[in-house]
Amino acid sequence: YEVEWTLEMAEKAGYPHFMLKEIYEQPRAIRDAIHGNAGVIEDVAKEIAKYDKIFFVAMGTSYHAALVGKYLLQRLAKKVPIVEEASEFRYEMEDLIDENTLVIAITQSGETADTLAAMKLAKARGAKVLAIVNVVGSMATRIADLTLYTHAGPEIGVAATKTYTTQLTVLTMLATALARVLGTASEEYLNELESKLKEVPELVEKVLKHDGALRELAEELKEKRDFFYIGRSIGVPTALEGALKLKEISYIHAEGLSAGELKHGPLALLENGVPVVAIAPSGKTFDKMVSNIEESKARGAYIIALGDNESLKRVSDVLIEMPPMDELLTPIVYVVPLQILAYHLAVLRGNDPDKPRNLAKSVTVE
Ligand code: G6P
Repeated sequence: YEVEWTLEMAEKAGYPHFMLKEIYEQPRAIRDAIHGNAGVIEDVAKEIAKYDKIFFVAMGTSYHAALVGKYLLQRLAKKVPIVEEASEFRYEMEDLIDENTLVIAITQSGETADTLAAMKLAKARGAKVLAIVNVVGSMATRIADLTLYTHAGPEIGVAATKTYTTQLTVLTMLATALARVLGTASEEYLNELESKLKEVPELVEKVLKHDGALRELAEELKEKRDFFYIGRSIGVPTALEGALKLKEISYIHAEGLSAGELKHGPLALLENGVPVVAIAPSGKTFDKMVSNIEESKARGAYIIALGDNESLKRVSDVLIEMPPMDELLTPIVYVVPLQILAYHLAVLRGNDPDKPRNLAKSVTVE
C-alpha cells in the first residue's frame, strides 16, 4: 500500500488549502515578526521621528494595514498620517511631497506596480521612503531608504492572511517605538503594550479554536447574497478587511463600513436575514456599536458579533467570543475569525480559495 505524495500536498502540510495553512501559521508568523524586528525598530523610529508630513501608500489588504497604521500613529505617536491608495496617490499628492515628507509603503510582495510607482514618485521628490515588506529583496526594498520585514514566510494563497497580521504587528511595534522616541505616551503604558503584543500569538491560538463553529456558521450562511461588516475607530479597517476577504474568495457581495455610516444609506439595504458582522470589542466604541447592532436587528438583520462582552449575547444571533485585550491590538486578533469564515464560505460554495477567479497574488501592472 503506497500513498502518492505530490510536492503540493507536502507543501500544504496536511491542510486542504494553502490559505488555511497560512491562517493557522499566524501565531508563529507574529512571533517571528516580533523577534525579527525587535533589534531594528528603535533605529528606524529614530530615523523617522522628525517627520510630521507622513503618507501611507498601499493597495488591497496592505491598504487596510495602512489604515490601522494611521490609528496607531495617531494614538501613540500623536502623528496624523494621510492614507492613500497607491493608485490614487499621484493625482493629488505629487505637489505636496518634498524632503520633509515621509512615505510609508506597505506591500507584501514588494512588486505591486501602483505601490512601486508611488514610491518612485516620492523618492524623485526627495521624500524619505520606508517600506514594510514580506518578500526579501523585492523591488520595493530596492527603492526604499529603509525597509522593515514582516517575516511571515512565503504566502501562496492569493488572499493575504498571515502577511496582514504581521504587517499589523510591525506597525504596532513601529508606533510604540516612535512614541518612546518622541515621549508621546507614558513609558509604563508602552512597556505594557509591548508585553501584551508578545501575548498576541496566544490570543490568536485561542481564536483559531472557533474554526469548527465558524464552519457551521458558514454552512448556515452559504446561500446569502450580501454581507455587511461594521466597526468603529480602529475596528473600521477590520470591517473593511473582513468584507474584502469574503469578496475575494467566496464571491459574495460584501461591504465594510464604519458603523456610524449605517444610517446614511446602507440601512436601507438591510432586510430579513441579511448578515451583519459587528466588530465590537470592549472600550470606548462599545456602547455605540451595541446601538448599531440593535438598529440593524430591528430591520431583521442576522447579527454576528465579535467581542468580549457578555451583553453581546442579548443583542446578537451569534457571538464569536474574543479574549479581552488592549483596543490597539484588536485589529490583529479580530481579523482571524473573519478570515476563517470567508475561507469556509469559499470552500462550501465550491471555490478554490487559493486561486480566486480574476485575481492575482501580485498585480504588476498599473
Ligand atoms: C493583490 C493581492 C492582495 C494584496 C494586494 C496588494 O490584489 O491579491 O492580496 O493585498 O495585491 O499586494 P501587496 O503585495 O502590495 O501587498
